[in-house]
Amino acid sequence: MTTPPTTPAVGRPLARLEGEAKVTGLAPYAYEHALTDPLHLGPVLSTVARGRIRYVDTARAEALAGVRAVLTPANAERLADTEDREFAVLQTDEVAFRGQFVAAVVADTPETAREAAGLVSVSYDTVPHDVTLTADHPGLYRPDGVNAHPDADTEHGEPDAALARAAVVVDHTYRTPMEHNNPMEPHTTVALWDEGAGRLTLHDSTQGAHPVRRTVAGVFGLDPEDVRVIAPYVGGGFGSKGSAHAHNVLAAMAARAVPGRPVKFALTRRQMFSLVGYRTPTIQRVRLGADREGRLDALVHEVVEQTSKVKEFAEQTAVCSRMMYAAPHRRTSHRLAPLDVPIPFWMRAPGEAPGMYALESAMDELAQACGVDPVELRLCNEPPAHPETGEPWSDRALVRCLREGAERFGWHARDPAPGVRRDGDWLLGTGVASAVYPHLVNPGSVAEIRYGEDGRYRVGIGAADIGTGALTALTQIAADALGRPLSEVVVAIGDTDLPEASVAGGSSGTTSWGAAVVAAARAFRDEHGADPAPGAGARGTTPEDTATPGYAQFSFGAHFAEVRVHADTGEVRVPRMLGLFSVGRVVNPRTARSQLLGGMVMGLSMALHEQSVVDPEFGHVVNGDLAGYHVAAHADVAGLEADWLEGNDPHAGPLGSRGVGEIGIVGAAAAVANAAHHATGVRIRELPLTPDRFL
Ligand code: MOS
Repeated sequence: MTTPPTTPAVGRPLARLEGEAKVTGLAPYAYEHALTDPLHLGPVLSTVARGRIRYVDTARAEALAGVRAVLTPANAERLADTEDREFAVLQTDEVAFRGQFVAAVVADTPETAREAAGLVSVSYDTVPHDVTLTADHPGLYRPDGVNAHPDADTEHGEPDAALARAAVVVDHTYRTPMEHNNPMEPHTTVALWDEGAGRLTLHDSTQGAHPVRRTVAGVFGLDPEDVRVIAPYVGGGFGSKGSAHAHNVLAAMAARAVPGRPVKFALTRRQMFSLVGYRTPTIQRVRLGADREGRLDALVHEVVEQTSKVKEFAEQTAVCSRMMYAAPHRRTSHRLAPLDVPIPFWMRAPGEAPGMYALESAMDELAQACGVDPVELRLCNEPPAHPETGEPWSDRALVRCLREGAERFGWHARDPAPGVRRDGDWLLGTGVASAVYPHLVNPGSVAEIRYGEDGRYRVGIGAADIGTGALTALTQIAADALGRPLSEVVVAIGDTDLPEASVAGGSSGTTSWGAAVVAAARAFRDEHGADPAPGAGARGTTPEDTATPGYAQFSFGAHFAEVRVHADTGEVRVPRMLGLFSVGRVVNPRTARSQLLGGMVMGLSMALHEQSVVDPEFGHVVNGDLAGYHVAAHADVAGLEADWLEGNDPHAGPLGSRGVGEIGIVGAAAAVANAAHHATGVRIRELPLTPDRFL
């Protein structure tokens, strides 16, 4: 057999392979799977923030035609594992936050399910609740770790002494609000329990089919092999679909209560505001001590955030301050207030997004205090190695991102004086901020390659494509690794019947799964050569040492923003933003750019709009829909540009690439806020930058 010439597929701007199917409605999302005779689930959510259920009256709901079951804490099945209280659905009478599942109706139609859920009447014995985060909350405690980082606190040198002797000190507190993930596709799951076989199937909108299987199997005491999770198409997640949540358990419970018929459950957007995670509000005190030229001697970043009493989630907000800049004396800390609130979880760049807003705002304040250009200030605080671990950088390109970004943006003509440029009624300003995101690899994913009768290589891996372009990128990676043209490679993802794959989270997907695909392709060629027989197959696993140990590996970037603030109304507009990033090798320029732009839009949204407002009296998010919870719309986004330095990180893994999913949001809000200060002379230290704050 002759080998047709192949050009490398990696690096080509391929359109998403499933793009046409998605935009023409042919790609079925979880809720849309055509299943015979489905039932529908209508949940009942707690209307108090804390207390006990006294009585659930289901009579009126049960009397409605088409209602098949009403689940309550009194009749719901006892789960095998209730240790993780997020999943202990309907197991007790306790209400731990407003918007928790307290009952559910299973009915023939979605309309009946919803109507019947409204007929379930629940009475409560309430206890006073606490849903308000304050910097001096009496319950503050130090968590054992912060979202996979073992240390909640770090201290190096003598930060207090260094601050006391510093020529210039910046000491400010920055606040970010509670924010909610709002993917286009709400969280949905369709559960089918095959009682005879003892098997549960979930069509689920998730960032990780295998992780959901593990969780659900554990909760119900099933063998993971008896749970299948299917998720080929997912309409976004931004982290909130990075694990199972209570709705998966509730849907599976309903399917087991009415075996033989699939149960469909789509959360409404309002229900998503209490059940699938959110970004904790933060209160961040940042203290910088520097000499008159702006060289840092001390950097202290102390964070207060909230968690739910039901389950701890500790966001790693200050972790970025452990590695961004050279400061011999440093301290970072995280304290959590346990409140009667829903469970926080991942939201795009958890930790780095709010943390870098605070740090990069403080750096801007230091630049002003020292009379140093904000770009120059960052350049003069470059650490030669990771400041805490001493590890060498694999590919620290912050300086290039700042320098080349400044050049392209036209930064150098900038007059540093705040509040002096005007165009009619609009005040004009520009701002800069750094971006960072760690290079994360999840080892242990497995890819399988089988050569078919049709001359095509079938690659299977249980990965998830949440709209990022992962399927397309993996196809490119597989084609090159096999040395075959794209047309001969078909990749299947999103199903636990495919080999194990890690979550689409931490911007780790392409690297982690790609390493498994490369390993499988190597094994395939070693075993079967370039002329395989049909049926030939091989497997490969993401190695533990995919990223070279001993290196500090991060992606970097620089955001530049031009902002106009209306002098009378305080309205903020962002006519232009440039993000220049260093992400190693780019597998697919089209989908990578889309990811980076999407991150920047979300950062712009964080800067200008996003905030969940909690009613302290009743304990719920008041603005729990897209009419009240504003996300950036087309009218907000004007001249947005994302680009990257051509690169190849030799220590990142076989592809030389790092993730692109999250770094785009990191620092974007600080760049906008810094530009708004430059425009107005008003320093807002609390997001979002709503008009009232400038008046
Ligand atoms: Mo991303 S917030 O790690 O899914």
